[in-house]
This record gives sequence, structure tokens and C-alpha cells, in this order.
Amino acid sequence: MSYMATKRCSSPPFFVYVCLVLFLGPNLAALCTAQVQFSYSGFRATDVTLDGVAAVRQDRLIQLTNTSDVKGYAFHPAPLRFRRSPNGTVQSFSVSFVFGIQSDFPDVCVDGMSFFVAPKKSFPGAFANHFLGLFNDQTDGSPDNHIFAVELDTFMNSELKDINNNHVGIDINSLRSVDATMAGFYDDENGSFTNLTLSSGQPMQMWVDYDAESAQVKSTMAPLGVDKPRRLLLSSVNNTNLSDVLEEPSYVGFSGASGPLTTLFYVLGWSFAMDGPAPAINITNLPMLPQGHPKARSLVLEIALPIATAAFIAAVGTAVVLLVRRWLRYAELREDWEVEFGPHRFSYKDLYHATEGFKKKHLLGAGGFGEVYKGVLQASKLEVAVKKVSHESRQGMKEFITEVVSIGRLRHRNLVQLLGYCRRKGELILVYDYMQNGSLDKYLHCEEEDKQSTTLLDWTQRYGIIRGIACALFYLHEKWEKIVIHRDIKASNVLLDHEMNGRLGDFGLARLYDHGTDLQTTHVVGTMGYLAPELLRTGKSSPLTDVFAFGTFLLEVTCGQRPVKQHGQDQQIMLVDWVLEHWHSGSLTQTVDRRLQGLYDNDQANMVLKLGLLCLHPLPTSRPTMRQVMQYLDGDMPLPELEPTRLNFNMVSMMRNEGFSSAVMSYPDLTTSIGTFSGLSGGR
Ligand SMILES: Nc1ncnc2c1ncn2[C@@H]1O[C@H](COP(=O)(O)OP(=O)(O)OP(=O)(O)O)[C@@H](O)[C@H]1O
Ligand SMILES: *[C@@H]1O[C@H](CO)[C@@H](O)[C@H](O)[C@H]1NC(C)=O
Ligand SMILES: *[C@@H]1O[C@H](CO)[C@@H](O)[C@H](O)[C@H]1NC(C)=O
Ligand SMILES: *[C@@H]1O[C@H](CO)[C@@H](O)[C@H](O)[C@H]1NC(C)=O
Ligand SMILES: *[C@@H]1O[C@H](CO)[C@@H](O)[C@H](O)[C@H]1NC(C)=O
Ligand SMILES: *[C@@H]1O[C@H](CO)[C@@H](O)[C@H](O)[C@H]1NC(C)=O
Ligand SMILES: *[C@@H]1O[C@H](CO)[C@@H](O)[C@H](O)[C@H]1NC(C)=O
Ligand SMILES: *[C@@H]1O[C@H](CO)[C@@H](O)[C@H](O)[C@H]1NC(C)=O
Repeated sequence: MSYMATKRCSSPPFFVYVCLVLFLGPNLAALCTAQVQFSYSGFRATDVTLDGVAAVRQDRLIQLTNTSDVKGYAFHPAPLRFRRSPNGTVQSFSVSFVFGIQSDFPDVCVDGMSFFVAPKKSFPGAFANHFLGLFNDQTDGSPDNHIFAVELDTFMNSELKDINNNHVGIDINSLRSVDATMAGFYDDENGSFTNLTLSSGQPMQMWVDYDAESAQVKSTMAPLGVDKPRRLLLSSVNNTNLSDVLEEPSYVGFSGASGPLTTLFYVLGWSFAMDGPAPAINITNLPMLPQGHPKARSLVLEIALPIATAAFIAAVGTAVVLLVRRWLRYAELREDWEVEFGPHRFSYKDLYHATEGFKKKHLLGAGGFGEVYKGVLQASKLEVAVKKVSHESRQGMKEFITEVVSIGRLRHRNLVQLLGYCRRKGELILVYDYMQNGSLDKYLHCEEEDKQSTTLLDWTQRYGIIRGIACALFYLHEKWEKIVIHRDIKASNVLLDHEMNGRLGDFGLARLYDHGTDLQTTHVVGTMGYLAPELLRTGKSSPLTDVFAFGTFLLEVTCGQRPVKQHGQDQQIMLVDWVLEHWHSGSLTQTVDRRLQGLYDNDQANMVLKLGLLCLHPLPTSRPTMRQVMQYLDGDMPLPELEPTRLNFNMVSMMRNEGFSSAVMSYPDLTTSIGTFSGLSGGR
């Protein structure tokens, strides 16, 4: 029996009845009751229907969103009839709710929440962003939405013509509010407006009344605890006739959309009444908003701090980069053994500033060793010539610098004073006195274009320069504590100071290239005519190789011609051969520079030419020493009688030509030929 009873109890009619009571009951009640009203002060799970991520919390709060980029909804479970008859107009209704908006960042939050009246209990396809979970970009604005909403918008979306990032708006079918205003309230006492920050995390109360008679939506808000302000915040009359909007029946509820920042929307209490004022919400019974949202961090910490940190790192990084660049820019090589040369060492920084970073406009010229810049030392305002010599090998550097430094101790009025040096990786920088009038070759071989700008040197000047250079060489060879070999005497290494005195520059540098010199290099070619035959053969410099170069220099200055003249495509004429030829034919004076227009001391010029040839003797031992050269030039001793013969001319010519056509030649044994040279070297 009992079995049967159980069976009867679970019979279909009973089940259907229960279902009707459970599910249709409230609906039927709502649908049938003209006078709907409810009031919640805090919620229980059964009070509302939820959708999205919305939840009714343990502490009786409705939390619409829980993180970023989500949407959540809470509905009054039953649909409401807004019209008395199916074809009637929408009745007045009144709603009040208490809400709170908490953001991770107190003053920054995006998107917002809304109270809405909508035909359905779901919003498929609605965006969890500035459409507040009600619409998406397609449905926004469509009359088919049948949605009325009051938005609490915390983001200014210009697309939706939002007025600011903290406003209340009345929305009909679209988030382009038909009316909107800054969130706040008018004080009852003095009528002054007070801003309310929606996302302040403080609970606020909102009142929305629809007046059917005027089809007007009236809205006010106030901080929780403040009575409903008498002066309305929003009072919208245009296009707010909800009879044309709402479907019958419709649902009421709340939506929240968090957008890209975690924003939490809470509803604390809610009351509603159809055709009458919404009942007051018992605020003493309201749940509390969670204090200190666990994720709430200050904007300073969350955004400003990373930015500040990044900025700090960037600043430190930049500083480091600048320092490293500065360090690299000014980096020098300095070794222990250089300490003793301290005073002659320049800092790269000083030289860098002196030449304004080795600017092209300060470039004086470039030679076989490197570029020369004009500079002004900042401390002393001294004009200097800064020569950058690239030098890869460390080998021999110590010896070289020792020499440079000892050269720095050389002092002679016909030497370009070496002031000091600086050393960098693969680079040696030499600092010289600046010579105002540049190098001599400019004056001797002025090109067509600068004929006007450069003055021709007269004979007296030339003789003065010759004597000066001879004097300097004599000093280097014999007057100083050590024998210094210049190794690179030539017109371009003779510089002219402000008084047009000749000064010998560049001494000792050739030594850098002593070892493994490739005679075919441009440097050597550029020095063609200056290299003594034995230098080509043995590669060894001596004072007499300097004398040989000096001989070429004498001819170059007197004749005003380069040591090697290009004649046609392949043919080169050696100046020495040409002078010898004239001497042989008794017309030596014809070799003197024509540009002098005969204005020169004939005897002096002849003597210089002959001395030049004597210095150019192929046999080193037959050349005069610089001491003798000085004596000849000063007239203290007469030049030995020299008789040019056809034989020695040919010999010299042969040697000259051979000497430059092949560098590593097997030279005719000089000693066996001595006899044939006696004519040239006669008087010595
Ligand atoms: N102390 C100086 N004062 C003024 N100008 C100078 C000075 N030293 C060099 N110069 C200029 O710089 C140019 C280049 O000089 P550098 O000595 O490097 O070349 P070079 O003598 O022509 O060739 P090489 O390097 O083969 O001797 C010279 O022609 C000269 O005009
Ligand atoms: C948010 O709520 C949804 C649905 O309740 C849940 O799946 C999700 O884990 C929650 N996220 C966070 C961060 O609490
Ligand atoms: C309501 O309107 C519809 C058409 O709009 C009409 O068919 C119906 O009879 C009306 N009902 C009442 C009670 O007036
Ligand atoms: C108006 O009154 C409120 C409080 O009653 C006060 O905070 C506000 O400063 C007053 N404003 C003016 C302009 O007096
Ligand atoms: C209210 O906010 C607006 C815009 O942020 C501002 O211009 C105004 O000064 C504020 N008023 C008060 C009383 O804080
Ligand atoms: C609102 O619209 C309905 C129907 O469209 C109309 O009957 C009613 O008079 C309107 N109300 C007002 C105040 O305009
Ligand atoms: C409301 O409508 C009236 C007349 O139709 C118009 O003058 C007024 O500017 C409108 N107000 C708004 C806020 O649209
Ligand atoms: C409000 O709630 C409190 C606490 O539940 C209760 O004591 C009080 O009577 C309520 N007030 C009203 C007007 O209902």
C-alpha cells in the first residue's frame, strides 16, 4: 500500500502542479498584480536571476563583475507588466538602488553599469565593454532592442558621444544617451552641485522615476545616507515615451561590463514600484561594500611605479651608454712604460676638443701617414697641428714613442716643434706647432687654380729656406746628443712659419714604416726621387740617405719642379737627369725656375744646383755631410770643382732609372764602378 501511495504521490498531475507553483507561480502573480513592488536591502540568492559572471555574494551583495573584460547581469526573476492592458500605455514606475563601483585604480576605471528594462533575460552577443553588456556595435541603436536603461558610465567614449568619464545617462535602445549629465547632486540646503565620482568605491543611491503622464524620465542620485535630493539631476522629456519602447512584459535588472580593467560593480539594495513611488530601502540593513578590495592597488603603484622604474632604468641605461660612448670616444692606450713620458702625453679629450671632434673643416691635409688637423688647445689657446697616424702593430711602439719623446726635446728654429703625443688603439696622434703658411710644395708647384692665392717665393726666400733646412738637418745629424735621421725630407715636409722660415717637420715618422716597407706603396712612390739608391738596396737609413734627399730638395726648390716629371703616358723624367744634362751641355742656369724671371743671384743658384748634384751622388761616401753642406752654403768653403762627363751622367741616369723601376733589383756592384765616378766626386 505504502508503495502505491508513493506512486500516487509522484503521479504526473501532482508533478505538474508543483512545477506550476514553482516556476509559473511568481510570474503569474506578477502578471496578475497591477501593483508590483519590491524592496531588497541586501540580496539572497533566490531574490534575483543571474547571468554572465554575476554572483550573489555571501555578504548579500550582488557582484556583477569579478575581473576585467567580463559582463554580468542580475534580473528580477519575473517579468513585469508595464501596461494595464495589452494595448495601453506604459505606466509610471519608480526604481531606487544602491550601488558601488570599485576599481583596481581609484580614479581610473572603464565602462560601467546600468539599470535596465529589457524584453529578455539574456543579451547574447552583447559586448563586455563600453556597451555595458547591453548591446554590441551592430545592435546598438536598433529600435528592435526595446531597452530602456540608465547608465552609470565611468568611461568617456567619444564614439558614443559620452560627455565625460563620470556620467549618468538615459539610454533608449542605444548607449548614445538621449540625455546625460555629470554624476553628482544638488544640495537641498543651498542648491550647490557636488560631483560624485562613480568609481570612488563609495556606495551611492540612485532614483529613477518614469512619469507616464509626461513621458518623462527623472533621475537623481546622492551618496548613501543622503536623502533623495529635491532637485533632479536629469529630467529628460525628448524621445523618452517608453510606450513606444518597451515590450510587454519586460524584465528589470542590472548589467555591468568591466572592459580592459578590473572593475567591480556591486548592487547593495534595490526597490521598485509600478505606478507609485519605490519603497525606501532600509539602509541600516544594507550589506557593506568590501573594504580594501584585495586587488585594489594604488594607481601610483600599478602604473606610475612601473613607468617610473622603466624611466629610471632608461635613464640609467642612457647614462651608461653615454658614459661608455664618452669613454670610447676618449679612450686612450696608456702603458706603464709611458709614465716616464708623462709631460708629453696629451689627453685624447683635449685633442678631441681642440679639433672640435676632428671636424673635416679643420683638416689641413692628408699625407702618407695620416690626416692632419688644425686645432686650438683650449687651456693655452695655442694653435697646433694634430696628426693622426694609424698604427696597427704594438711592436716597436715603445721604441718609437721613446724616439718621439726624445724628438720632443729637440729644439731648433728650423724644426717644427713636436709638442707631444697621444695614443689610442691602433692610432698614434702627434701634436705639432701650427705652421701658418703651410707646406713648401704648395708654393713651388702651385696648381693653375691657386696661382692667384699662393705667392711665388723669390730667390732670397728660397735660399733662406734651403739654408734653414740644411741647418735643421745639421742639427739633427750632428749637433744633438744622438744622431737623428729624418728619413723623409721632401718639399711637402718643409713647412713655412709666419715669417716664411722653412721648418722641417715629420721627422722620425718614417721609422714606423722601416720594417717591411713595401716599396711599391703610395708612400714610397710619393717620395720618389728622394730615396737614395743604397736605401732601396739595403733598406737602411743613414745620415747620408738624408743628404741624398736633401740634394733632391735643393734641385726641387731651385728649379721649381718636382723630382720626377711625368712625361707622356709611361715616361718619367728624373729632375736630376735633366739638371745633369743641362750642366753637361753648359746651360745649368737654364734649369733655374723660370718664374723667378732671372731675378736671382746667379752664383748662388749655380752653387746650390751643383751642391744638389753632389748630394745626389750615387755613392754615399761621396756625398758631403750636412756640416760640409752648411759650410758650402755659408760660403765658408768653396764647392769642389766638379766636371760632368758623359760617363758618370749615364751611370747616374742608369742608376736612377733602375732604382725606381725595380725595387728589389740586383744592383751593379758600386765599388767596382767607383773609378768611373771620380769625375763627379773629384774635389773631395
Ligand atoms: N705643423 C703643421 N702646421 C700646419 N700645417 C701642417 C702641419 N703639418 C702638416 N700640415 C699640413 O698637412 C698636410 C699633410 O701633412 P703630412 O705631413 O701628413 O703629409 P705629407 O707631408 O704631404 O705626406 P707624408 O705623410 O708622406 O709626409 C701638409 O701638406 C700640410 O699642409
Ligand atoms: C569570475 O566569475 C566566473 C563565473 O562565476 C568564474 O568562472 C571566474 O573564475 C571568476 N573569475 C575570477 C577572477 O574570480
Ligand atoms: C489591441 O491592438 C490590436 C492591434 O494593434 C487589436 O487587434 C486589438 O483588438 C487591440 N485590443 C484591445 C483590447 O483594444
Ligand atoms: C552647500 O552645503 C553643503 C552641505 O550642506 C556644503 O558642503 C557646501 O559647501 C555648501 N555649498 C555652498 C556653496 O555653500
Ligand atoms: C566637478 O567635475 C568637473 C569635471 O571634472 C570639474 O570641472 C568641477 O570643478 C567639479 N566640481 C566640483 C565641485 O568638484
Ligand atoms: C506616448 O506614446 C503613446 C503611444 O505612442 C501615446 O498614446 C501617448 O500619448 C504618449 N505620451 C506622451 C506624454 O506623449
Ligand atoms: C527636446 O525637444 C525640444 C523640442 O522638440 C528641443 O527644443 C530640445 O532641444 C530637445 N532637447 C534635447 C535635450 O534634445
Ligand atoms: C531596517 O532594518 C533593521 C535591521 O534589520 C531593522 O531593525 C529596522 O526595523 C528596519 N527598518 C525598517 C523601516 O524596516
